[in-house]
Amino acid sequence: MSSKEELKKTAGIHAAKYVKNGMKVGLGTGSTVKYTILELGRRIKEENLEIMCVPTSIATEKLSIENGIQLHELSSLDGLDLVIDGADEFDKDLTLIKGGGGALVREKIIAQASKQMIVVADDSKKVESLGRFPLPVEVIQFSWKETRRQISQITGLPESKIEKRNQNNNSFITDNGNFILDLHLETIENPQKLESDLNKLAGVLDCGLFCNIANIVVLAGKNGLEIISN
Ligand code: 5RP
Repeated sequence: MSSKEELKKTAGIHAAKYVKNGMKVGLGTGSTVKYTILELGRRIKEENLEIMCVPTSIATEKLSIENGIQLHELSSLDGLDLVIDGADEFDKDLTLIKGGGGALVREKIIAQASKQMIVVADDSKKVESLGRFPLPVEVIQFSWKETRRQISQITGLPESKIEKRNQNNNSFITDNGNFILDLHLETIENPQKLESDLNKLAGVLDCGLFCNIANIVVLAGKNGLEIISN
């Protein structure tokens, strides 16, 4: 296992300690939270942990079922106690860029349904200023080119830096049946304003900026674990 993978595993397993018997838990998407899901599966099997979970993506749904985790419809649970999820970048205010895996809309819905959001990350995700990681925006297929033109107008970013995401030479399609546009901004000066401006466009489902949502980051670095809270 590479040292980065070890860090992901350390953060992912540690975050599972926040999950207690009887909790309603959102399960995030990605290669770091995967370790949280595996650890929860182990505790269900070996320690009779009883929890009710909601997955943030079809990939997480599959992984959870494989690991014996009982899943529920979000609508049947009347809110969640916490969600554990990864991030592509986070800053000192715990504002996040998410959506590298394309699950940003369900991830934000589940984060907003949760009393607490715990982020699991290795130290490459901590940044001074957000935006080096391309900002994912989920857009309706029908109008994606027009939406790209409008995003270019409101951000001043040339259309050449607003890239439709592809996978295996085809358009990447989200679990909700939409496209992703990745915005190569390099730096984001005002994440709240950008989130609000983007989300005003009718063709935009949501963007990967998570402002004032995360409460704790479980960060694994070469000097060990750091718990950052706001
Ligand atoms: C998926 C996400 C992921 O949480 C994010 O991309 C981080 O993933 P990883 O832990 O694999 O780096 O937002 O939409």
